[in-house]
Amino acid sequence: MTDRKVVSPEEFWRKYDAVETRLTAALSERMLDLAGIGPGARVLDLATGRGEPALRAARRVAPEGLVVGLDLDDGVLEIAREKARQSGIANLDLRAADAAVPHELAGSCFHAVTVRWGLMYMSAPVAALVNAHEALLPTGVLVAALWAEPDRVPYYTLPRRLLARYRALPGIDLEAPGPFRYADLERLTHDFAAAGFSLDHVEEMDVTVFEAETDAEMVAWVRALGMTRLLNELPEDTQRAWELDLAGELRRMAAGGLLRLGGSTRIVRARKT
Ligand SMILES: C[S@@+](CC[C@H](N)C(=O)[O-])C[C@H]1O[C@@H](n2cnc3c(N)ncnc32)[C@H](O)[C@@H]1O
Repeated sequence: MTDRKVVSPEEFWRKYDAVETRLTAALSERMLDLAGIGPGARVLDLATGRGEPALRAARRVAPEGLVVGLDLDDGVLEIAREKARQSGIANLDLRAADAAVPHELAGSCFHAVTVRWGLMYMSAPVAALVNAHEALLPTGVLVAALWAEPDRVPYYTLPRRLLARYRALPGIDLEAPGPFRYADLERLTHDFAAAGFSLDHVEEMDVTVFEAETDAEMVAWVRALGMTRLLNELPEDTQRAWELDLAGELRRMAAGGLLRLGGSTRIVRARKT
């Protein structure tokens, strides 16, 4: 039977970090390229989680450069610390901190701030951008990755669309913290401007976030990524019907035998105005 336990972000990432890190590597590398990160640079990575793209940035800036990664969740940061130790990375400072609270990094002269799939989940993203602005050199750049509109992000919307056949679901609030808060480029541009940034580059990338050979693996991943509670409230046979719907839909979309879920992400670069 599929695992019905609600898991913490740390438990989730201890299980799925390796596959997601591999599948999303191109996104992190592209962010670092756009930020112009090379040897000797100082980089601040906000909402770094289990170290993306902070760990890659630390490798690029070594030996003289330094990377600081901030995240609210010390549990997921511990995964990043373990990976840094295993890879012999010594120039990465990982701190449990709210990016929106003024921190001692103001005036620290960072060359770049990165934030991959983080800004949209923050309760005060403009405050985090203002702090990033203060931590950057006048010539510094900020590079962020943000999910596009819901209908282009099936990893999140497909399982919910199928579940809506069986139960009422809360709608997606495009203004609240969540994956789609910055799906609207105008809102993003507005909030960046409020913090003293202007966008100088925008591009999109299709990113797979999970792939599996079997229906059961895929269903387990989707459940663990925030659907367990919604599903557990339903009778057993309804949960099973949803699982079959999801597997059927993913099999139709499958290429090369693997089941995949992901979506379109925007990568934006901003400079101080
Ligand atoms: C989807 S994860 C992205 C993690 C990582 N950057 C990646 O791409 O894998 C979002 C992260 O944002 C963090 N976060 C949310 N609000 C935050 C805040 N105000 N300050 C710092 N981190 C925050 C969460 O703890 C979580 O680890």
